[in-house]
Amino acid sequence: MTTLASVTGAPHAALLGVGAYRPERIVPNAELVEAIESSDEWIQQRSGIRTRRFAGPEESVQMMSVAASREALAHAGIDASQVDAVIVATVSHLMQTPAIAPAIATELGCPSPVAFDLSAACAGFCHGVGLASDMIRAGSARYALVIGVERLTDILDLTDRGTAFIFADGAGAVVVGPSETAAIGPTVWGSDGEQYDLIRQREDWRDVMASDSPVMPHLTMQGSAVFRWASFAMAKVGLEAVERAGITVDDLGCFVPHQANMRITDAMARSMKLPDTVRIARDVADQGNTSAASVPLALHRMVTDGDARSGDLALLIAFGAGLAYAAQVVVVP
Ligand code: UT7
Repeated sequence: MTTLASVTGAPHAALLGVGAYRPERIVPNAELVEAIESSDEWIQQRSGIRTRRFAGPEESVQMMSVAASREALAHAGIDASQVDAVIVATVSHLMQTPAIAPAIATELGCPSPVAFDLSAACAGFCHGVGLASDMIRAGSARYALVIGVERLTDILDLTDRGTAFIFADGAGAVVVGPSETAAIGPTVWGSDGEQYDLIRQREDWRDVMASDSPVMPHLTMQGSAVFRWASFAMAKVGLEAVERAGITVDDLGCFVPHQANMRITDAMARSMKLPDTVRIARDVADQGNTSAASVPLALHRMVTDGDARSGDLALLIAFGAGLAYAAQVVVVP
């Protein structure tokens, strides 16, 4: 029987650079509380959020993605012409088709890369890193841009007490490329469709359009149930990613969890028994929860502030609607 040619890629993959775009407008809790009968104190106590960023009309999904990607490429020292894969994790590019990834790739100047969007909600960025790492090692890409981007304010109901104060906008990006040493550990990922309805678009588009007065089907969340799941189940996933990377929590320099809620971050860190030496991302305090963008934004902040130094081991973990989750240990670029 004829056998087909097979390709193999680089021995290992690594994060080579990270970039971010934070919308200009800073929105304090005080601006939101009246519509949801809440208070600055309650929001800070329950979520750790003080302010968040809301995108203006010019700060589109594409614009924010391009800005974050340019910074990541510059940090990596890679030209856009070398990028042959663009993966965009998002749930707020509001076109059913086409995906936004080819438009972003073209604006960046990447020549005919594989370019597609990835729908895994808040877990999307870590899915993208796992996928890019596998593609590079399998030989189906050499340099990949993985972007996490959201304009959640387009699908946010600012009168909904359960979501209005949580979600926000922004973009983060990393360049993933070949490496002589293992710098992205195995991705531990999965989903729990039994809890499919906990975070969701309120209605199917067909039901919306069948209505006499169609309104945007906003994002809804059963916050307490998600909180319980995230605080307990995700610590186990994080520990599994550490173990599968062949290290222990004592080897970690940083912990960069999805920026959902400061109390979830603290509960996970306690449950994983992270030593005091591990620096913990707390970007949610003034960025809010930016879903797919939250992990790269938080990593970027830590790198910029010197809390994550090049060569440190960082545990990334993201979780959200689906329910979907993904985690991996990476070497900080
Ligand atoms: O990114 C995807 C993953 N998402 C997450 O991981 C988010 C997970 N969930 C959360 O972060 C939290 O559930 C929230 C921050 C959304 C809510 O905090 P909570 O501690 O779970 O509050 P709760 O929903 O259990 O409500 C507690 C109390 C209730 O009052 P009673 O029944 O105790 O009298 C609510 O009516 O707080 C009340 N409440 C509010 N009060 C002021 C609920 N929402 C608000 C509000 N302002 N916005």
